[in-house]
Formats: sequence, structure tokens, C-alpha cells
Amino acid sequence: MKQLSLTGAAGQSDILIGRGLLDEAAARCAEVFSPSRVHIVTDSTVAPLYLDRLAAQFDLPVSTTVIPAGEAHKRLSTVETIYHDLLAAGMTRKDLILALGGGVTGDITGFAAATFLRGVALCQIPTTLLAQVDSSVGGKTGVDLPEGKNLVGAFYQPRLVLIDPCVLDTLPDATFTDGMAEVVKYGYIANADILDMISRPDYRDTIEDVIYECVKIKRDVVAVDEHDTGLRMILNFGHTIGHAAEKLAHFTELTHGQGVAIGMVAAMRLSNALGAPTDLVPGLVGLLQKLGLPTELPYDREAIFSALLSDKKKFGGTVNFILVREPGKAEITPIAADTLHPLILKL
Ligand code: NAD
Ligand code: GLY
Repeated sequence: MKQLSLTGAAGQSDILIGRGLLDEAAARCAEVFSPSRVHIVTDSTVAPLYLDRLAAQFDLPVSTTVIPAGEAHKRLSTVETIYHDLLAAGMTRKDLILALGGGVTGDITGFAAATFLRGVALCQIPTTLLAQVDSSVGGKTGVDLPEGKNLVGAFYQPRLVLIDPCVLDTLPDATFTDGMAEVVKYGYIANADILDMISRPDYRDTIEDVIYECVKIKRDVVAVDEHDTGLRMILNFGHTIGHAAEKLAHFTELTHGQGVAIGMVAAMRLSNALGAPTDLVPGLVGLLQKLGLPTELPYDREAIFSALLSDKKKFGGTVNFILVREPGKAEITPIAADTLHPLILKL
């Protein structure tokens, strides 16, 4: 088992990574929490797979909320359902909430934990690759509004994150591949060794090491910039154009990982246009294709440009891009809208 810890404004977050951790969850929780009861939130796909295995370990009253799976349910009404279930179960501020699931479950549950009784202790048990390498760590929680994604939320660090790579065995291949886009992102922004690790044909055998390297990067970035005012923006490599593409796809025709993959290639082309010393596009495209991710923007460039300018990452007349000039090193680069326009048309 591997262990990392993150010290944030509100205290310490321990992150454990190891095969079999799901079956040790209650024992691991007992090392850091002393609740009188626990409440587990999971979704309708994960519940039949893992809920009983988790709930049965606790020698305490356990209550549960099973939310319908899918991004469409990442909304305030789902949080309200959780609040009602917490009250019905008699949960107090001294008790413990566990999030068992992917990024959707983690974000919703984290927000419920941050706000119920002004804050209840939280343990994240992420079950998708994306949640294991990204969303369960760093304390961003929240829900979507009809106007856009993640518009309501709070920074709220889980006291404990338990990452068990064994649960990835039940993930559909497409969902696993989606998470790999974030893994590629970490390789390009901070540690090129990750790119070597995932270029091997049998990389899934060493996925625990890959997850560890990714989480280490996220931990290091969040430790410096917990509230996303500077360095944390490097985690958005591929997300600026990726998000614009997801928007044009109405968040249905492209998955998040596909958007990020396409967005990384586009950002790399921008790096070239702005004078990168080496052309990193062929290597990135080759890796993404090998992993089964798309690389080309399927949308009109003018439409991409308009979507970019309405994105929340735009500040005034500039868009912040994360550019990579050598594998493992990223730069936050504000680009003025009128400089950007011709570059986007050439993508
Ligand atoms: P998700 O939670 O919807 O999970 C994808 C699908 O996989 C769901 O149908 C789920 O039920 C299923 N699933 C989960 N674990 C499984 C398992 N072990 N076996 C079989 N099926 C399983 O989506 P996601 O990709 O994990 O997360 C996406 C969400 O994460 C988005 O809402 C995004 O905004 C958010 N996110 C948050 C952060 C953050 O820092 N908080 C970072 C990145 C993404
Ligand atoms: N996933 C981006 C962040 O946590 O900041």
C-alpha cells in the first residue's frame, strides 16, 4: 500500500492507495474517525457491486443513499435528498459520510458533507479511474445548474481517501479509457515518466503505480494552490478547448475524457504556433490513439472560439491556456482573444 498526505487550510487529508483497501475500509476509517454512525452515498450502478461489501464492515449503525447514476443527477435536488436521508438517520456533526463511486457521486457527496450541519467528516472511496486520479483528491465538490457544470460548490477536503485499484475491474472499458485522458494530462504537465509507464502494452498491470504518480502530482499542486487561484490551473491542460467541445456536443456526444484528449492535442498545436522548440503533437496523438481516445476536433472552429470566450476560464479579453513545451513541464499562458482567433481557425 502507498500513502500520501495533503495538508490544506482545514487540516490533513490522508490518501491511501492499494489493492484490497475497499475490504479494509472500516478499519482504515477507525484509524482517523470516531463516529457513532456512518452514512454511505453511492449510485445505482455501484450499489449492487460494492455497497454491501462496504456497509457490512462497520460495527455501527449504517444508513445509505443510492442516487441514480449519471451526470444528469449531479444537481441540487439530489443533494437535498441526501440531507433528508442524513436527518432521518440521525446523523450529527460528529459522524461520518462516505462517498462510494465515481466523480459524480464524489462531487455531490462532498458538497452534501461540506454543507450539512455546516460540515461533517468525509471519506472518499473513488471507484472510477477518473475519480481515483483526480476528483477524489483536492477538495473540489459541487453540482451542476441548468446554466452549466459545477456552478455551485465548495472546497471541502476529505479527511481520508481510500483508493482501491481492484474496483476498476468492473468498469466498462470506455469509462476506464476516459480516465486515461487525465492520466496522459498528468504525464504532459508534470511527470514524463507516466507517459513511459502507460506506453507499455501491459500498463494496466501497473495501474496502482500510475495512480500513485498522478495523485502525487495532484497532491503537490493542491498543496500549493488549494483554492485554485494560480498553479492549480495547470490541471486544466486540455480542458479549455476540451470543455468548449463538450459544450458544443451538449455534454452527450463527447465524454469528458474524449473532450480532454481532443483539447490536449489542440493546446499542443497552439504551443507549436506560439514557438514550442519541439513538435510534441505526433507523440501525443500516437499515445491517445493507442489508448482509444480521439484526437481531432469535430466542430466548426468559429463555434469553438465562441464557446471558448463564454467559458468561465476567460478573464476579461484573455483565455488562460495551459501550454506544454516539453513533456512534464506546463505553463499557464494568457492569450488575448484577438491573438487567439486566427490560431483557433488554423487548428
Ligand atoms: P461517474 O461518476 O458518472 O462514473 C461513470 C460511470 O461509471 C457511472 O455510470 C458509474 O455508476 C459507473 N461506475 C463507477 N464506478 C464503477 C465501477 N467500479 N464499476 C462499474 N461501474 C462504475 O463519472 P466519472 O467519470 O467518475 O466522474 C465525472 C465527474 O467528475 C464529473 O461530474 C466531473 O465534473 C467530476 N470531476 C470532478 C473533479 C474534482 O476535482 N472534484 C475533477 C474531475 C472531474
Ligand atoms: N480537476 C481539476 C482540479 O481539481 O483543480
